[in-house]
Amino acid sequence: MSSANRTISCLFALTLLTVSACERPPVESTQLGYRGMNMAEIDNPRAPAPETGYPPALPPAPAVGPTAGEVYRNVQVLGDLSVAEFTRLMTAMTAWVSPEEGCNYCHVPTDLASDDVYTKVVSRRMIEMTQHINSEWRSHVGDNGVNCYSCHRGDTVPEYIWYSEGDSQYGNRNFAGWRDGQNLPAERVGLTTLPSDPFTRYLTSPDNESVRITPLQAGVAPDMPPGGIKTAEWTHALMMNWSQSLGVNCTYCHYTADFQDWNLSTPMRVTAHHGLNMVRSINAEYLEPLRGEYPPERLGPVLGDAPKADCATCHQGDEKPLGGADAVSAYPSLVGDE
Ligand code: HEC
Ligand code: HEC
Ligand code: HEC
Ligand code: HEC
Repeated sequence: MSSANRTISCLFALTLLTVSACERPPVESTQLGYRGMNMAEIDNPRAPAPETGYPPALPPAPAVGPTAGEVYRNVQVLGDLSVAEFTRLMTAMTAWVSPEEGCNYCHVPTDLASDDVYTKVVSRRMIEMTQHINSEWRSHVGDNGVNCYSCHRGDTVPEYIWYSEGDSQYGNRNFAGWRDGQNLPAERVGLTTLPSDPFTRYLTSPDNESVRITPLQAGVAPDMPPGGIKTAEWTHALMMNWSQSLGVNCTYCHYTADFQDWNLSTPMRVTAHHGLNMVRSINAEYLEPLRGEYPPERLGPVLGDAPKADCATCHQGDEKPLGGADAVSAYPSLVGDE
């Protein structure tokens, strides 16, 4: 073989190798509904896999001896734990929230009892919020529950938080600038031009209007939400966000010939309904009331509101956060009284 020929055959072999090594695995589809309903769930093995599993639990600590409430000076929530259990939880919290910053992210090093750092005050409420989720919202989080890592993943500030866009979502209030909260591609609604802040409307209070586009009766619609037909856009924006947060299609929860009918929906829609009410509750009772504790740079750029949670805060692209791993059985103190 001449050297030119050899080069050509080498190149050919190389190309073959490259092409075969790059063969893209096919997407997989699973049917979720009855036959003929075409409720396909598409899984793309090429998409980056979400994180699974929690950091390994610390070995159990003895529940004997004096309690943290007896030994320490300023323990308001975890006072019933033995000192050993208390220290174990502090160590776990450090790994979940501030592995690089260490204990001092929440403590004045010379006085662990001091509440002078806002992060400690916020954390105390975070502990109560976690207990509340694990005891009051089993309808959503089941027995697996959540711990600090579910949202924080080793970061002091969770990756998925949101702030109100307030009036900024409308643009100028003159004719040309009026965009009615939409018409700019927004990442959190799947890069569609749907309303970019469906959260303020639906995720802030147990009294929020229901997520609904279709009146239940023909003709006059007494149960039509106040936004009228505009609610179709708000609803779809929220739904795009849910699909994206869980990494699923609409068919994961709905039969698409009738989005409304609960009987034709999957059981996951019911879980999602409890999730909706849970998120409203944690935003209204825990996260927004912390507004006064944060330094200004942590508050919303438009309204100065506190950072809040949505589905992505825990799910982060996964149907079950961290692949459905158990978060609490090794930390029973993070489950509140029932
Ligand atoms: C993410 C925040 C956070 C981190 C990190 C953290 N702590 Fe704490 N710590 C708290 C909170 C909140 C309390 C108060 C708990 C309560 O009121 O029930 C507390 C209380 C304490 C107390 C009781 C002090 C007293 O006299 O009242 C001690 C001791 C303590 N922590 C030790 C540690 C140690 C040691 C570490 C590192 C291994 C650590 N903490 C890491 C948030 C944190
Ligand atoms: C449901 C999700 C969720 C869980 C569970 C959770 N957090 Fe948070 N945490 C948040 C959100 C949202 C914020 C606000 C983010 C910010 O500060 O900008 C936050 C903020 C904090 C901050 C303040 C960070 C800063 O620098 O402003 C600390 C400290 C913290 N959490 C500790 C904890 C601890 C400790 C636990 C477990 C006992 C916990 N969190 C559980 C969602 C969560
Ligand atoms: C994780 C489950 C889930 C996913 C995924 C989901 N939805 Fe929903 N959807 C719900 C729930 C739950 C409600 C009702 C909200 C409530 O509980 O009040 C709802 C309500 C709706 C409604 C209003 C129905 C009515 O009664 O008027 C429409 C329309 C809708 N979804 C469309 C979609 C579309 C389109 C997608 C995909 C982009 C989608 N949904 C993805 C769970 C889901
Ligand atoms: C505080 C963390 C947290 C938040 C916030 C959260 N979820 Fe979940 N979700 C979980 C956990 C944990 C599970 C797994 C429960 C289990 O293992 O039984 C779960 C399970 C689910 C499931 C069932 C999945 C399945 O395969 O059975 C759906 C659907 C779901 N969540 C939807 C939502 C929606 C929609 C939102 C926002 C409205 C939301 N979640 C907000 C923690 C959360």
